[in-house]
Parts: sequence; structure tokens; C-alpha cells
Amino acid sequence: MSNTERTELKARRVAFDWSATPLHWLPGDPATTHTINVLHLLLPAGERWFVHVYKQVLPQIRDPELRKDVIGFIGQEAVHSQAHDDVLPHLAELGLDPAPYTAQVDWFFEKLLGDRTLPPGRPRQWWLMERVALIAAIEHYTAFLGDWVLNAEALDRRGADPVMLDLLRWHGAEEVEHRSVAFDLFLHVDGGYRRRVRTWALAFSALVFLWQRGARFFMENDPTLVDGRAGFRAFLRAGRQGVLPSAGAMLRSVPTYLSRDYHPSQECSTAQAVAYLNSSPGANGRPQPGGPHTAAASGGALR
Ligand SMILES: [Fe+2]
Ligand SMILES: [Fe+2]
Repeated sequence: MSNTERTELKARRVAFDWSATPLHWLPGDPATTHTINVLHLLLPAGERWFVHVYKQVLPQIRDPELRKDVIGFIGQEAVHSQAHDDVLPHLAELGLDPAPYTAQVDWFFEKLLGDRTLPPGRPRQWWLMERVALIAAIEHYTAFLGDWVLNAEALDRRGADPVMLDLLRWHGAEEVEHRSVAFDLFLHVDGGYRRRVRTWALAFSALVFLWQRGARFFMENDPTLVDGRAGFRAFLRAGRQGVLPSAGAMLRSVPTYLSRDYHPSQECSTAQAVAYLNSSPGANGRPQPGGPHTAAASGGALR
């Protein structure tokens, strides 16, 4: 399978059983655990917001193939959002209540980036296009992270919890699988280079801001840590060890996205993603013992 080959995007019914997952699911490394845990704080609201914005842009899609892809994308993101949301009660049971932080994230996506009371016509369309471009920039990073986690063998070597790893890799593989959709949609409805640069800068700054605040929140509220801190040096060290993306790889991803001939199909491996999706226990109805929690394809309402 080549990198550019289209796959039919479908929302998979997934099941993950969190009952045996420890608080520090990367043994002995709470800082890395919580840095990755920020995904569970940001993605439920963030991916719900993707779905909300894309439902508004659907009527403007004139290409039937792209429309099909966008509907598949919506279905996948709806399941991602729910699957990460399902981890939060487990964290709360372990003494780490995420509600104070998720309330801020909800405000960020629902109010700050939500539908503003704008007059119909150009202002409303402008705001929709800004958000479509923002999603394309964010999806550059979700594909980057998906590719990273599929290849992060250091997490296996360090004994990461298999259920958490499966959630991250199933999600990462679908991010790689649908990595071109948001950018193709942006090109289809707008595609302006200045808008691409502007919204990349916004998306990147917001991600850095929310991520470091989320990691700090988890470290400060972890009941097993005394004076827990999320430091930049620990982050760089984890990157060198391969349990987080390296700073170098993240820096290199910037000119990639800003290059005028960028297209997501040039990055990552669809074949690797599909191979993982075919073998993922959570995505193939092989739930682990203890009573699975199922994230159903709630985006299917659009089909
Ligand atoms: Fe996703
Ligand atoms: Fe995505």
C-alpha cells in the first residue's frame, strides 16, 4: 500500500478496560505519564469541537469523495473524543480529579473557539474558515504524534501499560490514516497561505500553552507526589529517551507544515497505521478481562 492510497475511513467500535491500569502507567515516570495524559484532558472537548465545526462546513463541500472522507473523519473523531473521555473517571478513582482543568478546556473550545454571534454572510464564513484552517494545523500535530507513538518502542521497553498503549496507538493509527482529510478540506474551501501560517501560529501556541498547563495540573494534583512539577528539562530528557517526541522532531515539523508544497500524504505510513489497526485488541473486539467500556461510533448519526 502506498502512502497516498486512499483508505475508506470508518469509525471503529473500540473497547478498553481501565480497571488494571495504574496511575503511573509508565512505571516510575509520573512526569512522562502525565505529559501524555494531557491528551485525555484536551481531546474530548477538542475533537468534539472538530465534529461541531465540520458539520457546519459539510454543505460547502462540492467534491463527493472529499465529502465521504469528511464524514468518515467526523465518525472517527467522535469515537476518539469519547474513548479519551472514558479514561477520566478512572483517573478520578485513582485520586486525580481532572474536572477543574477540563472545565477550562471546555470553555476554550466551546466559547472561545465556538460559534460567535456574528452577522450571517462574510463575517460568519470568515470565522468558519479560520476554524477549518486551525483544525488542519492541529491535525498536522495529531498525525505527527500518531506516527511517533506507533514507533515509540521505548514505551514498550519501559513497560507501559498495554491498555493505555493500545488506546494511544489505535488513536494514533487513525490519525495517520485520516491525516490528509483536514488539509484537503482546507484546500478545498479556502487554502490561503497566509491563513495557513496565521492559524498554524495560533494552533501551535495554544497547544503549547494548554499542554504545559495540563501537565502542571496533573503533577501538582497527583496524590502520590510531594511537590510534583512538570519541568522543561524532564520533557527534553524524556524526548532523548524516546518516551516522548524529541524537541528536534517537533522543531522540524514546523517548516514541514509551512512549506508551500506540503501535503500530509508525504508524511507517515498508511501501511503501518492499517497494520496496527488490524492488530489492535481494543479496535478488534478483543476486550481485556474486567468488563470493557465501549466507545461507540456516535458520529454515525451523519451516515
Ligand atoms: Fe482523533
Ligand atoms: Fe484527527
